[in-house]
Amino acid sequence: MPETLIQFEIAPISTSEVDDAMGIAIAQVRRNLLKFTNASQNHSSVNNFYPAVDNDQWTSGFWPGEIWLAYEASGEAIFRNAAQIQVQSFLHRIEKRIETDHHDMGFLYSPSCVAAWKLVGDADGRRAALLAADQLLDRFQERGQFIQAWGPMGEPGNYRYIIDCLLNLPLLYWASSESGDAKYRIKALAHARTTLANSIRPDHSTYHTFYMDPETGAPVRGATKQGYRDDSAWARGQAWAIAGMAACYRYEPDAAYLEAFENLLAYYLNRLPDDLIPYWDLTFIDGDEPRDSSSASIVASGLLEMADQIGGTRAAELRRLAAQMLGSLWRNYAVRDPAVSNGLVLHATYSKKSPFNTCRGEGVDECVAWGDYYYFEGLTRLSRHWAPYW
Ligand code: GLY
Repeated sequence: MPETLIQFEIAPISTSEVDDAMGIAIAQVRRNLLKFTNASQNHSSVNNFYPAVDNDQWTSGFWPGEIWLAYEASGEAIFRNAAQIQVQSFLHRIEKRIETDHHDMGFLYSPSCVAAWKLVGDADGRRAALLAADQLLDRFQERGQFIQAWGPMGEPGNYRYIIDCLLNLPLLYWASSESGDAKYRIKALAHARTTLANSIRPDHSTYHTFYMDPETGAPVRGATKQGYRDDSAWARGQAWAIAGMAACYRYEPDAAYLEAFENLLAYYLNRLPDDLIPYWDLTFIDGDEPRDSSSASIVASGLLEMADQIGGTRAAELRRLAAQMLGSLWRNYAVRDPAVSNGLVLHATYSKKSPFNTCRGEGVDECVAWGDYYYFEGLTRLSRHWAPYW
């Protein structure tokens, strides 16, 4: 076990704190049904309040995911009905191909539509998710063996994948098991292996994005989009990598993923402030830069996912660490008063401008949709044995 795992003093979240945190999250989701039953939440809050928007962002799946988590925890029909209204919007989106020319089909369709099929047998959810898996498969590039993240297919300036895509892969694994067609799984495995081969630096930090050669398929170079600079480690990229390795290991239990998971985690833990909530880029380890609480939510959930698979002493250590992270989020970052915010977790960073990136600066020190979702998912995983939507 890396020595770094035992140095944190934060108390793990207790059983009664998990109950309280779940109760507050469910109450906030219930309140939000008024505004978001027939709308989507923006990717990030504005002055801590999410505006209602159309279902056309890469993040739109997280809000219905929260509704499903609230449904599972409470059993209340009001949540099920609202989540199934969202499913219709997602079916319309993929049938009409509204803002679907990118790789984020898993983030969109796993917590909304795969969840709907798994939890209540919603056939439109299954249909929408299979269409989304087809759309994701269409972005696979044979030359280089990766799923192209953004932009027109094959365009040299867009010939790259990003670390975040690991969390889009479960949609493909699900599509293979659901349809009986291995093609989705084969491409997911290939993309995961390409990521493992190129995106992790020798010091176990990660590149956010990675360019491949459109002519030969050879790896070219890593670069950032939302990190501080090309050679730094964007906190959320590292978080997607940690949770992504846990997801890869579930679908292909190869020791290489477990080893990468441990090394990525050790790098991340070594760059954390005392409260276990990272700055937005792991270049920063103290000072006034904004935090990204959403990275902590993602990592906590990823640790619990890996713990479920490996068992034994190491699983217990990972669970304790996740409970420490969720303890910190609950005590110091979670929203308790709806007058303060309509989100679940404060102090996340979506897209921070730096002298070395091209970001405009959006959602800095705000709630973000995936931060709220993974926080709620992490609490759910701690509260009982949970069957993932992913
Ligand atoms: N997947 C984009 C982000 O994490 O901001």
